[in-house]
Amino acid sequence: MKKILITGSNGQLGSEIRALAASYPDFRFVYTDVDELDLTNRAAIQDLFDREHFDVCVNCAAYTAVDKAEDDRELALLINATAVEYLACECAAHHSVLVHVSTDYVFDGTHHQPYVETDAPSPNSYYGLTKLEGEKAVQKYAETAIILRTAWLYSAFGNNFVKTMLRLGKERDSLGVVVDQIGTPTYAGDLAKAILDLVANDKIKNQKVELYHYSNEGVISWYDFAKAIMREAGVDCQVNAIESKDFPAKANRPFYSVLNKAKIKSAGGVEVPYWLDSLTKVIRQLKTGNL
Ligand SMILES: NC(=O)c1ccc[n+]([C@@H]2O[C@H](COP(=O)([O-])OP(=O)(O)OC[C@H]3O[C@@H](n4cnc5c(N)ncnc54)[C@H](OP(=O)(O)O)[C@@H]3O)[C@@H](O)[C@H]2O)c1
Repeated sequence: MKKILITGSNGQLGSEIRALAASYPDFRFVYTDVDELDLTNRAAIQDLFDREHFDVCVNCAAYTAVDKAEDDRELALLINATAVEYLACECAAHHSVLVHVSTDYVFDGTHHQPYVETDAPSPNSYYGLTKLEGEKAVQKYAETAIILRTAWLYSAFGNNFVKTMLRLGKERDSLGVVVDQIGTPTYAGDLAKAILDLVANDKIKNQKVELYHYSNEGVISWYDFAKAIMREAGVDCQVNAIESKDFPAKANRPFYSVLNKAKIKSAGGVEVPYWLDSLTKVIRQLKTGNL
């Protein structure tokens, strides 16, 4: 039986892992969020690892407020980079495998074809920069680890674009959504399953640190995504295409951040569902309250 520590387990990804736990009877999960294990507290991490042996640690914790991070720099860096260093060191000291989650926002979005793992990152936001620093900490300090870069996460749990669109769609007759940022939405439940399947299939053995891209399949804009959300949910709200320059945000975002999934697919044992199939599933969950 593998013992798995889930950090940040009240977030979208952590909640999806909890929801899947019963399907992995060979795993014993220990769930923590900031109240049980504040990752900025190095002594608390050391204490927990000294008390319990974890085979695997899946780090779902992060500072994910992209715009807020532009002002809240110290805390964003502390959670997304310094805390990851603490975790990587502790995992190495106890020979635990670390699964760390990163983002498509490590890229500046100037590409016109899907980013591969060997493409040079160049974040154009402070959030992206802190996440890249977190990746570097894993590369430097972990013994055995995978870093999974993902994109545009949503879930029936937590706050995300899908839920915001559904709320606004019910409040308004029309709304504008940016059409010039292209990427791929990812259902956090699909990512959770990919992570647990990688662990279950022993795909993270005998390697130092391996970097993979994982998102749902397909390529769309936020505008296309919003249209699909309204259509799938049966919400009568007109979605209008607008340009990023007409929707000023504090942080820059990449115009193109599609991730190439060839590497993780060739590793085997991981499903990469089409974005619309997963969206349909989540809208159904939200409608029925069947989580
Ligand atoms: N959301 C996206 O669109 C997206 C896109 C690409 C990549 N990612 C990455 O995917 C991963 C999972 O994202 P998510 O959307 O599931 O994030 P999330 O919903 O924001 O969850 C993150 C969790 O971490 C917790 N946390 C914050 N500071 C902590 C600390 N010091 N110690 C322990 N826990 C702490 C948060 O608690 P509080 O809520 O109390 O702060 C929250 O429960 C992250 O690494 C993120 O960077 C996300």
